[in-house]
Amino acid sequence: MTQQEITTKAKEILINNYQEKGFTIPCKGLYPFQWNWDSGFIAIGFAHFDIEKAKSEIKSLVDAQWSNGFIPHIIFHNESDTYFPGPDFHRSDLSELSNKSVPTTGMTQPHTLGFALEKMYEIAENKEDIINFIKLVIDAIYDFSLYFYNFRDPLNEGLVYIYHNWESGTDNSPIWDDIWETINPPSLEFERKDTGHVDAAQRPSKREYDYYLHIIEIAKKYNYEDREIAEYSPFLVQDPLFNSLLISSNASLIRLYELIGGNEYKIEKLKSLTQKAIQSFNNKLYDQELGVYCHYDLRNNKLLRYISSSSFSPLFAGIPSKEQAEKMVTVMMEKFGNDDQYLCASFDPTHKRFNPKKYWRGPVWINLNWLLYHGLKDYGYDDIANRVKEDSIEIIKQNGFFEYFDARKEAHQNSIAGYGGDNFSWSAALIIDFLTK
Ligand code: DGY
Repeated sequence: MTQQEITTKAKEILINNYQEKGFTIPCKGLYPFQWNWDSGFIAIGFAHFDIEKAKSEIKSLVDAQWSNGFIPHIIFHNESDTYFPGPDFHRSDLSELSNKSVPTTGMTQPHTLGFALEKMYEIAENKEDIINFIKLVIDAIYDFSLYFYNFRDPLNEGLVYIYHNWESGTDNSPIWDDIWETINPPSLEFERKDTGHVDAAQRPSKREYDYYLHIIEIAKKYNYEDREIAEYSPFLVQDPLFNSLLISSNASLIRLYELIGGNEYKIEKLKSLTQKAIQSFNNKLYDQELGVYCHYDLRNNKLLRYISSSSFSPLFAGIPSKEQAEKMVTVMMEKFGNDDQYLCASFDPTHKRFNPKKYWRGPVWINLNWLLYHGLKDYGYDDIANRVKEDSIEIIKQNGFFEYFDARKEAHQNSIAGYGGDNFSWSAALIIDFLTK
C-alpha cells in the first residue's frame, strides 16, 4: 500500500464507522457505541477531511455530560446486542447526577478532549468557524477537567484517581494483577460477547471479567456516588497516563481560553491546578530506581513498580525534567526498543507478565504511539519519535487497521499479527494525522 492508499482506506474506515446520530463507533460488533477517549482521537482524524464530523464527534460526547461535569466512558446512543455489559448492567439511572437524555456507563476514560479540541483548531482551515465551535463546547470540557479535581482527588494533591481498570484505557494491563490479588469476588455468571467477535486468546480472561463486574457492582451499590466509591472501591489508582492526559488537556484549554479571550478566572484556576498536579506527579509517581513513572495504588498505599507504555506518557504533558526524560528514553530503548521489536509495546517486554497477543498485556497500540511520538518530539528526541511513527505506519501497512499489534517483528513475517477489532477507528484516525504532517 502506498501512503496515499493508506490514507484513502483510513478515511473509508472512519466514514463507515460514523453513525447517523453523529458519533463514531470504535469498530463494528466488538464496540458498537460511542467510547469517550476514542472520540477525541477520532475527531483529530476527521478534522483532516471532514471538520463537521469532527465537531459532531465532540458534541455528541459532551451532550452526554452529567450535572457534576463528569463525561462517561460509553454513551449508549443506540441499542445493540453485540456488546456486554450494556446499559442494563451499568444502570447510569441509579445516579441522580446522570444524564437523563441518554444511558451511559458510570465510569469515565482518559481526558483527550482538551488536546483534541486544540488539534482541531490547528488543523481546521476556517479558523472563525472552529473558534465558534470552541466557544460552544469549551466550558463543558473545562467542567470535565474540574470534575476530577473536585471529586477524584481525596488527598487534595492535584492527582486524580480512577476506580476501575476500564477508566485507565489500558483495560487488562498486568499492573492490575496486583490489585486482583487483594480481592476475591465470587465467580459470576454472564454471557461475554467480545469473545464471539475476537479470539479469546487476545481478550481478558473470564476471571478478569469477574473482577471488572464486581467493581461496577460496588459502584452501583452506592449509586455511583464519588465519595462512597473513594471509600469502598477496592480499585483506587493514580494512573500516570490518565493524569498526563488530564494535564495535557488542561494546558490546551488554557491556550484555547487565551485565544478566545475573557475567562481569566478559568485560566488562573487551570494554571494553579496544573502546577500543583505536576509537582505531585513528580514527587509521587516518579520511581528513581526504575527511571520512569509508575501507577500508585491509593487503596493499598504503594507504588506499583512496573514499566508500561503509560510510564512514558508524561512526556506528552511536559511533566519530566530534561534529566528525567533522558533516563526514561534510555529505559524505553533498552527494554522496548530492540531492533527485533516495533515500538512501543504496551508492557515491559522483558517482564514475565508480558504477553505479545493479549489486549493491553503487551501489544502495540496506535493511540499510545501517537502520544509518545508527540512527547518524544517535544523533548527533542526526533529520531526515536520518527521510529515510533514509522513503526506505526509499517504495522498498519503489513496487517491492516487492527486494534492492536504484536510488538515482535518476527510475528509479522508469515501471518497477520494485528489483533482485536479490525477497521478500528482510532488506528485509522491517527494514521491520517501521522501521514498528513
Ligand atoms: C471493553 O469492553 O473491553 C472495553 O474496552 C471497555 O471499555
